[in-house]
Order: sequence, then structure tokens, then C-alpha cells
Amino acid sequence: MSNQQLVLVTGVTGFIGAHVAVSLLNKGYRVRGTVRTMDKANELVRLNPELKDKIEFVIVKDIMAPYAFKDVIKDCDYVCHIASPFIVENITNNKDQLLDPAVNGTLSALEAAVTEPKVKRVVITSSFAAIGNFTVDPSNGYTYTEKDWNPITYDEAVSANNGIVAYCASKKLAEKAAREWVKEKQPHFDISTVNPPYVFGPPIHPMNSMDSLNTSNQILWTVINGSKVQPSIQHVEVDVRDVANAHVLALESPHLSNGRLLVSCGPFSTNSISKVLRDRFPEKKDVISEPSDVPFNEKHYTLDNSLSKSLGLKYYSEEQTYIDTAAKLWERAEQFAKAKLY
Ligand SMILES: *[C@@H]1O[C@H](CO)[C@@H](O)[C@H](O)[C@H]1NC(C)=O
Ligand SMILES: *[C@@H]1O[C@H](CO)[C@@H](O)[C@H](O)[C@H]1NC(C)=O
Ligand SMILES: *[C@@H]1O[C@H](CO)[C@@H](O)[C@H](O)[C@H]1NC(C)=O
Ligand SMILES: *[C@@H]1O[C@H](CO)[C@@H](O)[C@H](O)[C@H]1NC(C)=O
Ligand SMILES: *[C@@H]1O[C@H](CO)[C@@H](O)[C@H](O)[C@H]1NC(C)=O
Repeated sequence: MSNQQLVLVTGVTGFIGAHVAVSLLNKGYRVRGTVRTMDKANELVRLNPELKDKIEFVIVKDIMAPYAFKDVIKDCDYVCHIASPFIVENITNNKDQLLDPAVNGTLSALEAAVTEPKVKRVVITSSFAAIGNFTVDPSNGYTYTEKDWNPITYDEAVSANNGIVAYCASKKLAEKAAREWVKEKQPHFDISTVNPPYVFGPPIHPMNSMDSLNTSNQILWTVINGSKVQPSIQHVEVDVRDVANAHVLALESPHLSNGRLLVSCGPFSTNSISKVLRDRFPEKKDVISEPSDVPFNEKHYTLDNSLSKSLGLKYYSEEQTYIDTAAKLWERAEQFAKAKLY
């Protein structure tokens, strides 16, 4: 089982990063994970005792510093570049606060990889944000594939006054910059990207409170956190554990040399989440929002996941995703509540 190849995972204490480390270890890889502080590393292991002594942690304080990863790339066979420097709050200057950091953060890993001859591939966590055309009516029934690109231009991104549009643009520009960098520099390794939509799944990474949940899980949490708020959201989701396995696939598959992998478990609505969870956890009915009567929009755009399936990726069912995520969210919330009592 053990192939002992070494993978550098940037952002290993993040929501996706922690699961990527687990998937890689399950496949017999060795994992070196970058963290901002050793406290975060210790917290990850405390939350997941099975990871004890399994990950080699290295400190990278500022992922945007030039050559941030230069000292930690040594002897690595692969890189999974997941860390993202994003601050989405209080953006007053798209270029300086969002676009440049996204691009620089992505290129810094590629520049480091040039210095290690062993590196065969750098997998970059991109996003459906780099693919979707967010100027269109979401009810256009369109099916996105790996061939599509978010059409926003750099100039439009600089002047966008909508935070979400600017965030999506930063993901697009970062992925484009990586692909252009590879074309221009012709390094000794290739790249691939994993492009997920909304990512649900059990959070196994260090968090300060339930408020620090990632945007996607925040949507699910709102449905089950006792507020009885019923948000009416419909989009496309994927399980974080599938995203993690997709990273392993993107690292191994010869078909994905300089390729792109769109991952999706299918459409979701907050209505379907509350239905599934009220059915599965009848004893929790008083904290789970009631489904609203907003009908499911069959014409909402979808994502084509056939490439990932043809390469062997097996997806969690949406029911399993909601159930496992809810159980973990309640568990983490209970731990935070207990910690407050002492
Ligand atoms: C954003 O701005 C608000 C209001 O000025 C402030 O309360 C908040 O702390 C800021 N958030 C961050 C992350 O800087
Ligand atoms: C990004 O990189 C460019 C070119 O190296 C540099 O001029 C700029 O200051 C960097 N920006 C940030 C936010 O690091
Ligand atoms: C994006 O949507 C707009 C508005 O419908 C359309 O004009 C444009 O052609 C689309 N661009 C791409 C690349 O699909
Ligand atoms: C998830 O949220 C944490 C903050 O809790 C942040 O550090 C991390 O970058 C986010 N990850 C993703 C994939 O959005
Ligand atoms: C539940 O979620 C809603 C909406 O995000 C939020 O306003 C509320 O404070 C949350 N309640 C708890 C107990 O976390």
C-alpha cells in the first residue's frame, strides 16, 4: 500500500486541506503540511487523534511572501496547493486586497516547485467560481464543463463593486495566471486544478467558533442551528471528502496533465437539506428549520461531473453528506458550548 512519496500540502489546517491530508495518508503518501503556527497543527491533531505523528508540520507564516515555500519544498514529489490568502470582508481595493494576493499566492507555490527537481505535479485548488458565467440568469438550464471559463476580465474585476463577483474573479485570474505561467516557463512538472462548487462536509479542522465555518457549511448550519431560519438557496454542492479524493486523482491521473477537474455531487436546495435531516433526526426537529414551499428550480444550471466519474471518482450521496455534516456540526457546537462553561 505504502508508496512513500512525499506531498507538500499548503493550508493543511483548513477545511479542505485537512481532508486532503487524510485522503493522501489513506493512499499511502507521506504528507508535509504547512501551517501558520504550531498551535494550529497541535489543534488539528487534538481534534483528529488518528493523525498523531502522521503529518510532518512546517511553519510558513506568510504564504504571500516571495519564495514563501522555498524552504519547505525540499524532497517533495508533489504539491497540493490549497492555502488561499483570501480576506473577503471589508474589501476597499479589489486589486490590492483580493486579485494580487490570489495570483501571487498561487504563483509562489509554482516558483518554489521549480527549485525541487523531484516535483512531478502541482495540484491547485481552484473553484467553480473560475468557471461559472455569473452574469447570466441561473435558470438558463446550462450544464458547465471543464471547458467553460468565468468570462470576467481583469479590468472588470478591478472595478467590480460586488464582493462576490470580485471574489469569483480572483479565483479565475489565479487559475489563469498559473496556466499562463506554466506555458511561459515550461517547468519540469505539470499542474492540474480541482474546481468545486459549494463544499459541504464534516469540518475536522481547527476553528475558533461556529462563526468561522466556511461559507458553504454556514448555509447548512443555518438550517440546523436552532434559529429556525429557512434560507431559500439552491445551488450545486460537493462533499469535502470527494473534493479531497479528487485532489489525489488530480495528482495521479495522466489524463489530467495540465488539466482541470470539475467536481459535483449534484444540485441542492436548503429545502432538501431540511427534509433529509428532519427525516433522519426526528429528535432534532425543534432545531431544524421547516422546509419552505419554494419549489425546486429544475432549470437551474448544473455541473457535468462525467470526467471525474470516468476517472474513477465515487461520490457520496447528498443524503449522506447532509447527515454526516449535520452530525459533526452539532458535535463541534456542543464542544464550543462546553468549553465556554469552564
Ligand atoms: C470590517 O468592518 C467592520 C466595520 O467597520 C468592523 O467591525 C470589522 O471588524 C471589520 N472586519 C475585519 C475582518 O476587518
Ligand atoms: C504580487 O506580485 C507582484 C509582482 O511580483 C508585486 O508587484 C506585488 O506587490 C505583489 N502583491 C502582493 C499583494 O503581494
Ligand atoms: C456570459 O453571459 C452573458 C450574458 O448572458 C453572455 O452575453 C456571454 O456571452 C456569456 N459569456 C460566456 C463566455 O459564456
Ligand atoms: C475556511 O474558513 C477558514 C476560517 O475558518 C479559512 O481559514 C479557510 O481558508 C477557509 N477555507 C476555504 C476552502 O474556504
Ligand atoms: C444561526 O444562523 C443564523 C443565520 O446565519 C444566525 O443569525 C444565528 O445567529 C445562528 N444561531 C446560532 C445559535 O448559531
